[in-house]
Amino acid sequence: MKRWIKLGLMMLGFGGGEMTASADVSGVSSGPIVIAHRGASGYRPEHTLMSYKLGLQMKADYIEPDLVMTKDGHLVARHDIYLSGTTDIADHPEFADRKRKLEGHDDWFVFDFTLNELKTLKAIQPRPKRGDVFDGQESIPTMDEILSLMKAAKADGSKAGLYIEMKRPALFKKVGLDPTVALLAMLKEVTGAGIPVYFQCFDGAYLNEFVGKTDAELIWLIEGKKDRKSKSYVLEAPLALYGTNVDGVGLNKALLLGPEGKPTSIVDDAHALGLDVHVWTIRNDQVPKGIRSVEEELKLLFSLGVDGVFADFPDTALQSRDSFMLLKAGPADD
Ligand code: G3P
Ligand code: CA
Repeated sequence: MKRWIKLGLMMLGFGGGEMTASADVSGVSSGPIVIAHRGASGYRPEHTLMSYKLGLQMKADYIEPDLVMTKDGHLVARHDIYLSGTTDIADHPEFADRKRKLEGHDDWFVFDFTLNELKTLKAIQPRPKRGDVFDGQESIPTMDEILSLMKAAKADGSKAGLYIEMKRPALFKKVGLDPTVALLAMLKEVTGAGIPVYFQCFDGAYLNEFVGKTDAELIWLIEGKKDRKSKSYVLEAPLALYGTNVDGVGLNKALLLGPEGKPTSIVDDAHALGLDVHVWTIRNDQVPKGIRSVEEELKLLFSLGVDGVFADFPDTALQSRDSFMLLKAGPADD
């Protein structure tokens, strides 16, 4: 639900956390939404069609593609602008001379390659502990291919939506690849197909360019910074400054816990501003210190009132969400 509608309802007395609960936003799920982060990336190489398909099969509420742009202007799914971590490009001698230094990385960069060239690469698992069984099987998907997958899933009865992030728009503009027109057209196609959609970005100024031009819900991603004294994460500016034009915030989960793991008020503060709160990233194989299990972490986040979680292992997050909602509802009347 758009923020201005939520604020209006709050003024009419329909306030509180339940108004920002994501069940009201999308109709996709009951309770906080579960976003398959880079697909079901805990189980398959991230940002591959097989990773997205597994997320759909698990019935994640949203599938998350991170987008970058090729040299010839195609939107494709990668988390990074460099290619060595998630593809087999190092095994392609024909591209050896394209390696260069940028931003401290001696690597191959996505905007130096056409789509046809990128399509010759195969995706690999960037986290060795997750295994390499599925490496080398699929190419980098285009946004068009992802949209076709989602349309086919919808035709099969899926209610899942897309939670699309544009990576590094200022850098793409700097290298002469402004993604805005392609993104607006793509978002129009997604909404036109009746697929629920969020559009997220760390660059708030860039998100502003989309205000009033798309029906997608806009989410400002916020990392925060580590406070030297307390060693916990804090915002770099008051929350109200982030939330003027967007429908929600995508928060680094570290912002929810202050010194000694004591919860901060950030979720309630965001809700008071009419903003949804989605947090990243929940990983079964990377649970924060002081928390015993990923289930305990999820329960804590849900009890703090978050409206959604980005999860590498969406099945675990869905189970925890459903258990949390059952407990919250209490015993059924006979
Ligand atoms: O977009 C939410 C979350 O994915 C942000 O972190 O770096 O994994 O894209 P990142
Ligand atoms: Ca992302």
